[in-house]
This record gives sequence, structure tokens and C-alpha cells, in this order.
Amino acid sequence: MTPSENIRQNRLYSDLAWLWPIMSPPGDYAGEAGAIHSLIQAHARREVKTLLELGCGGGHTASHLKKHYRITGIDLSLAMLENSRRLNPDIDHHCGDMRIVRLGKRFDAVLIHDAINYMSNESDLAAAFQTAWKHLEPGGVFVTFIEQLAGGLVKYEFGGKTHEKGGIRLVYFEDNYDPDPTDTTYECTLVYLIRNGNQYRIESDLHILGIFQLETWLNLLRGIGFEVHQSEMQHSESPDIPKMPILTCVKPNVDSSP
Ligand SMILES: C[S@@+](CC[C@H](N)C(=O)[O-])C[C@H]1O[C@@H](n2cnc3c(N)ncnc32)[C@H](O)[C@@H]1O
Repeated sequence: MTPSENIRQNRLYSDLAWLWPIMSPPGDYAGEAGAIHSLIQAHARREVKTLLELGCGGGHTASHLKKHYRITGIDLSLAMLENSRRLNPDIDHHCGDMRIVRLGKRFDAVLIHDAINYMSNESDLAAAFQTAWKHLEPGGVFVTFIEQLAGGLVKYEFGGKTHEKGGIRLVYFEDNYDPDPTDTTYECTLVYLIRNGNQYRIESDLHILGIFQLETWLNLLRGIGFEVHQSEMQHSESPDIPKMPILTCVKPNVDSSP
């Protein structure tokens, strides 16, 4: 399945995209956005004024980073872009696929936050990294995350998280399951219980996500020309989840790319 087909069948980014601000509120992203900002400032070799976010989703991460940077957000889902436009009318938005989009301009920083795990095979992961490289000024930084590593699938035991907003009560369960640990994908299944007054409905959703060895990430990034710095970050949703590797990738000042 291509990422585009995958996204089209992900209900959270299509007919259920209205749940996104309830399920994963912008405030949950403050810690991760703070860590991203610190890493950009620590590693950039140029002043960082502009930031491109690939897979910006509902713009929750961007809603914190826009205090510091002029942001352009790209996402494949029109419904998620609509969420982000409502929250961030002050940032630029475009619909595009992070593997192939070319805006014809460069930024001081590029971010792929929790959207990178939609790259479900090595060539898509490499293509997303190429997009980051092509849009980055020399001396700029690309920040990305590893939510899962091959051989150690983290189970995210979300036993019914409850959120309420605007009269809607949402309880959701998330299960990560890897039916074939020898390939580069795993399944994230979500079940949503949505209550509105006396009425309720139950919906389900399946996301096919990528899972690779750490060496694959590092080799692909270094192969493109990035200098890679590895650190760790606490997942914003639960302190019980092990810290995630976060990669800060510097584009050297001498740009020898074609
Ligand atoms: C978990 S959400 C991102 C949430 C975001 N951090 C926020 O602040 O709201 C993942 C996003 O990745 C997007 N996505 C997945 N594959 C993509 C691709 N190939 N190109 C662009 N966006 C993609 C989805 O449409 C979805 O909006």
C-alpha cells in the first residue's frame, strides 16, 4: 500500500479528523515543541527564522513553534490541514506528500515530527529525508523522531484515554501490533467511543506504520549528507512510555548536493 492509499483509509485523517483536537489537544505538544526548539537552537549553524513542517497534521506542534519561527506546514490530508488552518491562521499551509513535494524554496529548519512513522518502507523513508534535505539551507537543521525500533515494538498500553471538549466525550484505545516482525511495518489499531449527550457510537481505525533498525535511519541520513546528532525525548502523552530517540541532522555549510 502506498502512503497515499494508507492516508486515504486512515479515518483519523479523513472522516474522523474532527476528533483530532479532542483526542490529542495542542497543550499535549508543548513539551515536545520545547525540546525541538532547544535542539534547533543548539545545532543550527545559521540563524533560524523559517521552519518547514512536513506532515504538520492539525498543527498542534506548530502552534507552539510559531512563537519562534515563520512556519510553513505541509500535509497530505485536507481534513487535517483544515484543523491546522483553524488553529494557526497565521501560518502557510500546502497539501502535499512529504516524499515528493518540492516548494522551490529553502528553509532554515525542517521538522518531521510524529508523521515520519507513516513511511512504511525504506525507499519512502529515504524519499522523505531527501525532501527535508532539498528544502534546507546549508547550516540548517532537520529534526525527526523514531517512535518504534525494529526488534523492540513498544506496546503503548493506552487503556482507554478519556477527553472531553465542546460537549463531546471521547474514550479511545490504541494497540500496536506487529504481525510480521521481519518486514518494515506494524499495525496501530484504534477504537473510539464517541459520546454526544445521550447518543454514542463506536468507530475503529487501522494505521499501517513503518518500523526500522536504528542503523537504517542513520545510514539513510548520513548517505544523503547529513551530520546526525542523536538524543532522547520523553513522549508527551505518557511518562510510562520509554524515551524516544530524536535525531537532529545538520546540513553542512558546503552544499555539494545536486
Ligand atoms: C500524527 S499526525 C501529525 C500531528 C501533528 N504533529 C500535529 O501537531 O497535529 C500525522 C500526520 O501525517 C500526515 N501524513 C502521513 N503521510 C504523509 C505524507 N506522505 N505526506 C504528508 N503528510 C503525511 C497525516 O495526514 C497526518 O496528518
